[in-house]
Amino acid sequence: MSEDKCTAKIKIVKDGPYLVVGNIPMTKQTIIEDEHGQAVKWKADDCFPLKEQYALCSCGESSNSPYCDGTHQKIGYDGTETASKGNYLENPETIEGPDLILTDAQQLCALARFCHRKEGGVWDLTEESYNPEYRASAIQGAWDCPAGRLIAWNKKTGKAIEPPYVPSIGIIEDPAKKVSGPIWVRGGIPIESCDGTPYAVRNQLTLCRCGKSRNKPFCDASHVSKGYIAKTTDPSNTL
Ligand code: FES
Repeated sequence: MSEDKCTAKIKIVKDGPYLVVGNIPMTKQTIIEDEHGQAVKWKADDCFPLKEQYALCSCGESSNSPYCDGTHQKIGYDGTETASKGNYLENPETIEGPDLILTDAQQLCALARFCHRKEGGVWDLTEESYNPEYRASAIQGAWDCPAGRLIAWNKKTGKAIEPPYVPSIGIIEDPAKKVSGPIWVRGGIPIESCDGTPYAVRNQLTLCRCGKSRNKPFCDASHVSKGYIAKTTDPSNTL
């Protein structure tokens, strides 16, 4: 385990921001679609300075997004955490293919849409994972799922096949849907509830930054149905 991984942490402030500590680098991550409307890649922009500690907005109303500007206090934001603190493997759906197993925790979906591949959905591709091309596409689809809803497993070894992320944060923008997305937390950064209890550590997950999720602190894709667009004084930070 790296030193960064030991010190990096996100602490949820009651009805307030996410306090990020441990020099965690942050980039803007934009979903890029092809001409058929298929999400095909992530575009990363280095527009945020490295800081030892910073507070990220969770209520969706900051005028200096993605950073907190104290607006949560003025609006009486209710950030009550309703998500399970249990393990990802509590009750995901399991799809078993000839070479891969896919687990799918649907309640974590952040609607990033990389699971719909040009060869088919990751579910069908898993069922046809005897084909190396389909197997690779199913794995890539799971890797590109920022919420960690989908995890591919090696059927022979029983081990998860996960992207080797270092601790880092991505601020998701989704111009095709004309919305701002959640906070992408990568590399197994521990998340601590406002009551001090830890959430299960996962390689990647998405924290709500629109304030509308019904599964706080995690994103449940409400930012799409609510048409959330982050406000900022720095136009390089958003859509
Ligand atoms: S950012 Fe996705 S539900 Fe809030």
